[in-house]
Amino acid sequence: MKCKITNKPIQPFINFGKMPIANGFIEEKNFSKEFFFNMEVGFNDDLSLVQLNDHPKPEKMFNENYPFFTGSSEYMKTHFKKYANFVKKYIKSNSKIIEIGSNDGTFLKNFNGQSNKVLGFEPSKNVADVSIKNGIPTLNSFFNKKNVANLKEYLGQTDLICASNVICHVPDLNNLIEAVDLLLSASGTFIFEEPYLGSMFQKVSYDQIYDEHIFMFSASSVSKIFQRFDLKLIDAIPQDTHGGSMRYIIKRNNNEINQNIKKIINFEEKEKINSLESCLKFKRDCELSKEKILKKIKLLKNTGKTICGYAATSKSTTVLNYCNIGSKEIDFICDTTKEKIGKFSPGMHIPIKDMDYFHRNITDCIYLFAWNHKNEILNKEKKFKGEWFSHVEL
Ligand code: TMP
Repeated sequence: MKCKITNKPIQPFINFGKMPIANGFIEEKNFSKEFFFNMEVGFNDDLSLVQLNDHPKPEKMFNENYPFFTGSSEYMKTHFKKYANFVKKYIKSNSKIIEIGSNDGTFLKNFNGQSNKVLGFEPSKNVADVSIKNGIPTLNSFFNKKNVANLKEYLGQTDLICASNVICHVPDLNNLIEAVDLLLSASGTFIFEEPYLGSMFQKVSYDQIYDEHIFMFSASSVSKIFQRFDLKLIDAIPQDTHGGSMRYIIKRNNNEINQNIKKIINFEEKEKINSLESCLKFKRDCELSKEKILKKIKLLKNTGKTICGYAATSKSTTVLNYCNIGSKEIDFICDTTKEKIGKFSPGMHIPIKDMDYFHRNITDCIYLFAWNHKNEILNKEKKFKGEWFSHVEL
């Protein structure tokens, strides 16, 4: 499927090659049926937007087997608690709150026992079921115009719509914004946070790019995209999550913008973050990063060192497939998610093992794929005295 939010063609600037579904952890019997797509990234000059050129159908990614649970990270649980506290200034008692991509209900749980009415939209059935079990009213469907049209008591009456690491997943962004517009009350607020283009360029964390991450936003692109719907970016607040994210606050056009926005947009202009020139520099940085990590792994293997991967993240699928790193280099990847354990990594087919296996089969070195959870993980694994490394600086 082509990702289109304007009719202007996007300018491709990097091709990561043949990619499987990032969260498509696979059993051996299904290796021959594995799905791949060509992962090319382009720049939309009109909207200052970095985006995938093409992507698999959302149903291929968000289905009854989606293996990601927000509650699997203590850090993320704390983050969602703080996020919930932050958004409270945008609601009163008896407010109506919707979360797009509510996952296992980790965020909405923070509004439990209050007078507010909450509703989650979660297209992946297995995670939506966990949320419902946690007592969070959840619709097991995609958030779009068609699916919000029947929510009579929410239309034009929703005080707050939130999302976290979700908006960049939605190919028909125009439809999503129209659905937000249908729901938001006159004074309503839409708040979402997403990995930030500026951080990805700075860290060369190209693993932020995978099938689910269709768009890589900046404050400038978000501002331009929402202006087309008479909605205004009134504030943007940097976040540490996902290796550098931005929280965007959107209101109807009659609202004042915070001075902070001007500072961030000036910074983006000064650093030329929203330009093809920066995209081309990023491409060169990715190629250097690939060379460097392959050299590092070769050196370790040549000196007889064993390596395992820590955390079978969606991001790791991009790194492993782009750099062509497989089970010859990495013995196994350990992870806490039961849906991934016993399967193999998408594309490169490295075995995924549980944490017990990891502790019983300690390797000399560990490739940290969840580099964005470094503090939480290094704290848990203090007994490991070997070398941690990654393609981003640890
Ligand atoms: P993600 O980067 O695609 O969100 O996935 C994070 C993965 O990292 C998820 O499979 C759980 C795993 N993980 C661990 O195995 N141990 C940990 O301590 C943390 C924080 C994450």
